[in-house]
Amino acid sequence: MEHLTDRLPTLTGDEIIAHLVPPRQFVDATLDSYRPDHDYPSQSEAVAAIREFTSAWKPSGGLFSRRRSSSALPGIYLDGGFGVGKTHLLAALWHLAPPRKYFGTFLEYTSLVGALGYQSAFQLLKGASLICIDEFELDDPGDTRIMSRLLTELVATGTRIAATSNTPPNALGEGRFAAQDFLREIDALAAQFLTLRIDGLDYRRRDLEGHAVSTPAADLESAVAKYSGVITTDRFADVVNHLAKVHPSKYVKLVDGLDAIALTDVRVLTSQTDALRLVAFVDRLYDAQIPILASGTSLDQVFADDMLAGGYRKKYLRAVSRMIALTNGEG
Ligand SMILES: Nc1ncnc2c1ncn2[C@@H]1O[C@H](COP(=O)(O)OP(=O)(O)OP(=O)(O)O)[C@@H](O)[C@H]1O
Ligand SMILES: [Mg+2]
Repeated sequence: MEHLTDRLPTLTGDEIIAHLVPPRQFVDATLDSYRPDHDYPSQSEAVAAIREFTSAWKPSGGLFSRRRSSSALPGIYLDGGFGVGKTHLLAALWHLAPPRKYFGTFLEYTSLVGALGYQSAFQLLKGASLICIDEFELDDPGDTRIMSRLLTELVATGTRIAATSNTPPNALGEGRFAAQDFLREIDALAAQFLTLRIDGLDYRRRDLEGHAVSTPAADLESAVAKYSGVITTDRFADVVNHLAKVHPSKYVKLVDGLDAIALTDVRVLTSQTDALRLVAFVDRLYDAQIPILASGTSLDQVFADDMLAGGYRKKYLRAVSRMIALTNGEG
């Protein structure tokens, strides 16, 4: 039997760079395959604004060819609730950009800087046409400062930036850090972005009344046996402990090559730190579309009420939406 807790991945700068492409699920995402919901005009407006943003890359032909207006901002920021298609649109934009271009989560960029050092990371990204940053959520003032500097310097050398979040740029960090210089830093960064607010319903059609599937403990083994390929089985508590031993930037490798994971004896989490690590772990499972089999407490119930009421509410709700999808065989 294979265990997640036996996997202790390492990650080099080269491996991080090789991974700076859209996740598997979004390899074919295009602006045309995005179907705007006409009840929410902001969705088709976002598609139009993204098309406009890409016009800068069209070869400029004759006299009447479209020129990028000098006032155009170098950044575009897609803000909205979970499941409205932000990552889909970001990947679609990435596909339209000329090489070299990068696509990663905020965490992947900060780990790149951590692995290579600031100057090497900057030199590597310099000259890119586009840098896409998914899930631009700032929990750490130090990381914010580094990213803010990196993006400002890249923009100054002609790179354009696209980012997504569940939070608009001027509300990032809201309710978590009050430090004035932190807020100033975000303001300077936010000024570089055209912000598009995308409204709508969770496209996965999994509202919070949906439940993550829990398999009776006695049936889990036979459920696991139905999967072919690599599937790990661990006690939920062991995985939570293991996630504390592996840096979140390496979770991507922790789940690499798995066809499914089984978690036994799921329990409600009592520590916010554990809960945030689980969120990061679920993000990587979701990117790789790895199904979850679980017994015990339904996974949509693992975040305690006081956590759901706190500053990380949106993160937890997004993780719940993703765990519902992954336990419903949508991986
Ligand atoms: N309007 C749409 N038309 C077609 N597919 C969509 C649309 N919106 C979302 N999808 C699909 O639904 C799934 C969820 O969308 P996506 O992950 O892009 O949402 P998100 O806003 O990034 O959510 P999250 O907050 O969880 O990151 C994806 O498979 C995406 O391709
Ligand atoms: Mg997303």
